[in-house]
Amino acid sequence: MAGESAEHGGVSRLHRGSSPRRTNQEKDILNDTTWKACLDDPVPDDVARLLAYVPEWFGQPDANAEYIEAARQKETWTVRDSSSAVVGVTLVDRHFPHVAEIHLTVVDRAVHGTGVGTAMIEALEADAWTRGVSLLEVKTLGASHPAPGYARTRHFYQRLGFLPLEETDFWGAGTPCLIMVKPLTAEPASGAL
Ligand SMILES: CC(C)(COP(=O)(O)OP(=O)(O)OC[C@H]1O[C@@H](n2cnc3c(N)ncnc32)[C@H](O)[C@@H]1OP(=O)(O)O)[C@@H](O)C(=O)NCCC(=O)NCCS
Repeated sequence: MAGESAEHGGVSRLHRGSSPRRTNQEKDILNDTTWKACLDDPVPDDVARLLAYVPEWFGQPDANAEYIEAARQKETWTVRDSSSAVVGVTLVDRHFPHVAEIHLTVVDRAVHGTGVGTAMIEALEADAWTRGVSLLEVKTLGASHPAPGYARTRHFYQRLGFLPLEETDFWGAGTPCLIMVKPLTAEPASGAL
């Protein structure tokens, strides 16, 4: 469930759509919000909704259909607001016991930059530590592609401690795949769970 309810009461009323314009009051509410991420049941309809808000990152219908299908089965972490609406989703793959791969992370555009994504990755990391996982992995669009949105995405992962490992042609010509990893060498300080 979401974190502190007083703040979230405002967040749930925010406009959701492709170009949210926030009032100063809404911005204050978002900046004061403490989000909490939890392991959740599958939320494929919410994944479809959130992907549709961010076509600059997820604009390929075939790929989106695969993500929505994946959301029916994969381990799911969410952040919810005070009305229980999903504002962020992370799907996780576990290829080996020592690795957790972020298959998908997407946050409601109306709350980008307010800590939802960070809350999900920190919760996953705290959980990974308790399971003896030693490496987090994520694949994203590499810097040899000019998409400006993905430069922000790479910055997001890097500020959380992920390191670029390799850029590959795994996704085909014109879609450079950057593999990023984060070795888990110390217990997370914040106790995000
Ligand atoms: C990338 C994403 C998951 C980050 O979640 P978030 O809740 O917006 O980010 P947080 O508030 O936790 O962290 C903010 C940091 O991320 C960066 N960031 C990356 N993308 C951002 C975005 N679209 N909007 C705002 N901040 C973004 C900010 O610059 C900030 O770092 P800074 O304080 O050093 O400037 C989210 O913005 C998103 O869904 N983006 C579109 C889809 C996407 O890129 N998914 C990942 C594909 S691999």
